[in-house]
Amino acid sequence: MNSNKFTSSVQSRTSSGAAGVKPAASSLFENSTLFKGLNDNKQWTISNDNYKLLRDAIMDLLDLDLNHYRTQQMERRLTTLLERRHATSWQAYVANLRRDSVELDYFQEFITINVSSFYRDADKWDFLRSKILPELMAAKPMQGINGWSVGCSIGAEVYTLSMLLTEKAPNRRHALWATDIDARVLERAKAGGPYFQNELRELPSELVQLGMNPVSSQLLTMKPAMKSMVEFGKFNLLKDETTRKFDLVMCRNVVIYFTTEVKPQVYQRMARALRPGGILFIGSTETIANYQQLGFDYIAPSFYRFIG
Ligand SMILES: C[S@@+](CC[C@H](N)C(=O)[O-])C[C@H]1O[C@@H](n2cnc3c(N)ncnc32)[C@H](O)[C@@H]1O
Repeated sequence: MNSNKFTSSVQSRTSSGAAGVKPAASSLFENSTLFKGLNDNKQWTISNDNYKLLRDAIMDLLDLDLNHYRTQQMERRLTTLLERRHATSWQAYVANLRRDSVELDYFQEFITINVSSFYRDADKWDFLRSKILPELMAAKPMQGINGWSVGCSIGAEVYTLSMLLTEKAPNRRHALWATDIDARVLERAKAGGPYFQNELRELPSELVQLGMNPVSSQLLTMKPAMKSMVEFGKFNLLKDETTRKFDLVMCRNVVIYFTTEVKPQVYQRMARALRPGGILFIGSTETIANYQQLGFDYIAPSFYRFIG
């Protein structure tokens, strides 16, 4: 890893002081005199040693293997994080992670990227609504759909599905599983919100009416019937296994952060969780390179059918 390649300027927070870098008064580490990790231009860099230090600590503290996340992206986020936290060295930041559980939560949330919204990438949901769900339902008349939202973040994705299933087949017993590695986002998801209007900007108004209750002009929560359809749980896509089988697995905008080496293993895990004929729904910018080897047929952008 080249320690000068990925940098994040700290000039914006500097005013005066040692070497032009003065931690703000709220600095987590204002007593530290270490500036390891800053290059001559006062930009954060991460050396192999510091990356290893951080990687080992994160494995130990969060059971999360940074080796499987794309290095460039991870480095960029990490250097940005150090800048934001006004840290003075990688060592000091890691030491603080070990004793400050709030900072550890923040760290996890920041590096795993929880951006999400309802009916995200509307054209894909339109396709699911008009083509995929009717097909899945026709294949099991009278029965409910089993779905899994992998990397569900705040729950917007799985609740979008619960609304669509209610719209199409309100009397069937659908069962949805929604999982994420981040316990904090799972709490909000499980509570059914509240969600901000801007998180629903792509959601058709008839679905809002069907599945949500307004609590103020800006905030809405999920109706109890939507929440009761979903079971939330912690699941690390890089190491946990399930024996459950689903008609539909949604794994969107998660694998995009993983290395090329680990992606096939992750998609294999998805394949194992699908019943033959089941559908894998992935992110708009994602494709599965070796889908045939994994037992999938390509249906349309973002959609694959597991053949077995
Ligand atoms: C960008 S969000 C995507 C949310 C949603 N699927 C969507 O497309 O709107 C990525 C989510 O993946 C989760 N994630 C990252 N690494 C993970 C892992 N190893 N196992 C499970 N979830 C992970 C993050 O915590 C985050 O909530």
